[in-house]
This record gives sequence, C-alpha cells and structure tokens, in this order.
Amino acid sequence: MRQQQLPARVKLVEVGPRDGLQNEKQTVPAAIKIELVQRLQAAGLKEIEVTSFVSPNWVPQMADNAQVMAGITRLPGVRYSVLTPNLQGFEAAVLSKPDEVVVFASASEAFSQKNINCSIEQSIARFAPVVAAARAAGIYVRGAMSCTVGCPYEGEVAPERVGYLAGLMKDIGVQHVGVADTIGVGTPLKVQRAVEATLQHFDMNDISGHFHDTYGQALVNTLACLQMGVWQFDTSVAGLGGCPYAKGATGNVATEDVVYLLHGMGIDTGIDLDKLIDAGQFISDFLGRPSNARAGKALFAKRA
Ligand code: HMG
Ligand code: MG
Repeated sequence: MRQQQLPARVKLVEVGPRDGLQNEKQTVPAAIKIELVQRLQAAGLKEIEVTSFVSPNWVPQMADNAQVMAGITRLPGVRYSVLTPNLQGFEAAVLSKPDEVVVFASASEAFSQKNINCSIEQSIARFAPVVAAARAAGIYVRGAMSCTVGCPYEGEVAPERVGYLAGLMKDIGVQHVGVADTIGVGTPLKVQRAVEATLQHFDMNDISGHFHDTYGQALVNTLACLQMGVWQFDTSVAGLGGCPYAKGATGNVATEDVVYLLHGMGIDTGIDLDKLIDAGQFISDFLGRPSNARAGKALFAKRA
C-alpha cells in the first residue's frame, strides 16, 4: 500500500446540512438549516453540501432544498454543493445556482436499488446527461460512491466493485469522487484498498474520503487515507448523519473530531475549532440531544 508524507493542508467538505440532517425524523425548519450553514461558513468551512434535490417522497427532510439555497448568504471563496440524482433534480437544482452538483451511485447493486431505485448501470445512464449539462453550465461535478467497503444488504464489497464504479464515473465525466463507507463498517486496510481501486481511474487530488462512524472506525480510516496522500474528506458537524436507506448506519465522522485530529498533527484546515464547536452546539440544541463529536463535547465542557 502506498505511504505518502502527510499533507500539510486538508480540505474538509461539510456535509452536515445534507447528510447530517437528511436522516432526522423531526422536521428541521429551513431557517435552522440556513443558520447552520451561516455558522459553518463563519467557522471557516470552504465547501458546504447544503441540500439535495431528490424526491421529497423519498427524503422529506430535503423538500425545502430551494428555500434553503435561496436563504443562505454566500461568501466569496465558499463552494455550495447539492445532490442531484437525475435530470429532474439537476434542472431544479440549477435554479439555485450551486457551485457543484453531486451524483451518487453505489458499489453494491442492492444498495443502488434501495437508495435510488435502479441498478448501478441505470444510475450511470441517468447521471450521464446530468454531468454533461452541469459541465456545459460550468458547474463542477463530484461523484459519491456508496458502500465501497460494505453494504447493509450484501455484506462485504470487494475493491474490484469500487474500481468498476470509479471507471464508470470517470467515463461519464465526473471530475472528483468520494469513497464512502456508508455504513461505517470499514477498517483502515479495507478503506485503503477502496481508495487504491479508485486511484486506477482518478488522480489523488480528485479523491476524497467519506466515512460514517457506526463502528467507531471513521477517525482511524481518515488517518489511514491521510497516510496514502488523500487530503480531502467529507465530515459532518456534531457527527450528525446517516442515510435513510442504509439501515443501522449512524452519523458521519464529526467535523470537530477531524479538525482536532488534524490540528493536533500540525495539519492546517483553515477552520476555527471554537466557532465550529458553537455550530455543533447550535444544531445539537435544536435537535435536543448531545453532540456526537467527542472532541467537540470535551472542549465545550472545558469552557464551563
Ligand atoms: P423513483 O420513484 O424511481 O423516480 O425514484 P421516478 O423517476 O419513477 O419518479 C417518481 C416520482 O418522483 C415522480 O413524481 C417524479 O416527478 C418524482 P410523480 O409523478 O409520482 O408525482 N421525482 C422527483 N421529485 C423531485 N426531485 C427529483 C425527482 N426525481 C423524480 N429529483 C429517485 C428515484 C432517484 C428520485 C429516488 O429514489 C430518490 O429521490 N432517491 C434519493 C435517496 C436519497 O436521497 N438518499 C440519500 C442520499 S445518498 C447518501 O446519503 C449517501 C452519501 O452520503 C454517500 C454515502 O455515505 O454513501 C452521498
Ligand atoms: Mg453519507
């Protein structure tokens, strides 16, 4: 497995407003989502996954997508991305002027069916016109690859499946891919193999890690990827998150914990951890439960 010098700087893509909140049962009003985005960008996050233009029947929490996009105050230098599962979603999304759209496919067939109601190949056929339209409009296209180490329905997923999907994504013009451990079952060597398989088709600079923390492995998986040279990660404030179609999956790795890890290793993120903790506290207070961020909670407690 390749070992690189640790990167001096890491880019975090904050997915709390989208991946974090999509699984919440209680409706989170648009005003709260907007304030969360404002607080995250004030903390120094430079890329924020704001919402998704998916079917409101499938994910009711994201039904206010256009309202949230219209309500945020955009800062120069911050990229705002949204999920688009098909052309209908893209056409709705484009009215909100996202900087980036995210198409999302799965390395496992069963999860593809459960999450987006079609096979892997059908999903790629659906994404192809989305990618073409986005790129023609100058909108950057990221691809999320789910279940790259394990699937809630099929169990372990072989790296070859990840390589296959990465190749399909590359062929349709996706510019960057995220290697996702959707259900948080991965351990360092497994996620490294998934990244290695992705590297057959994408440059290191066009790959990010997206780790859910169900089994408490997300931070070590992040470190394992850093050691390979991966320098971009999706994280979620307060460790919120989960996919409604990935049973048992808990939140994404907490942004606060990743920032604590990186700053502790002398790696720059451009993020103000104190302000980030406040953002995590804000959304946790609204949801009425403690934050899932371990470092976030410890540092917050220390303040008192
Ligand atoms: P479908 O039911 O097969 O869609 O759903 P359809 O094309 O047959 O259309 C059925 C109805 O949905 C129609 O309405 C369409 O207009 C409507 P009707 O005529 O019945 O009134 N529709 C839409 N409405 C709004 N926006 C759209 C849209 N498309 C169709 N874009 C579909 C297929 C893909 C739409 C559905 O399965 C879906 O929305 N799935 C999204 C599920 C989802 O959001 N999952 C979470 C995000 S992925 C994730 O979290 C993983 C990630 O974090 C990485 C990781 O951790 O692995 C990214
Ligand atoms: Mg996810």
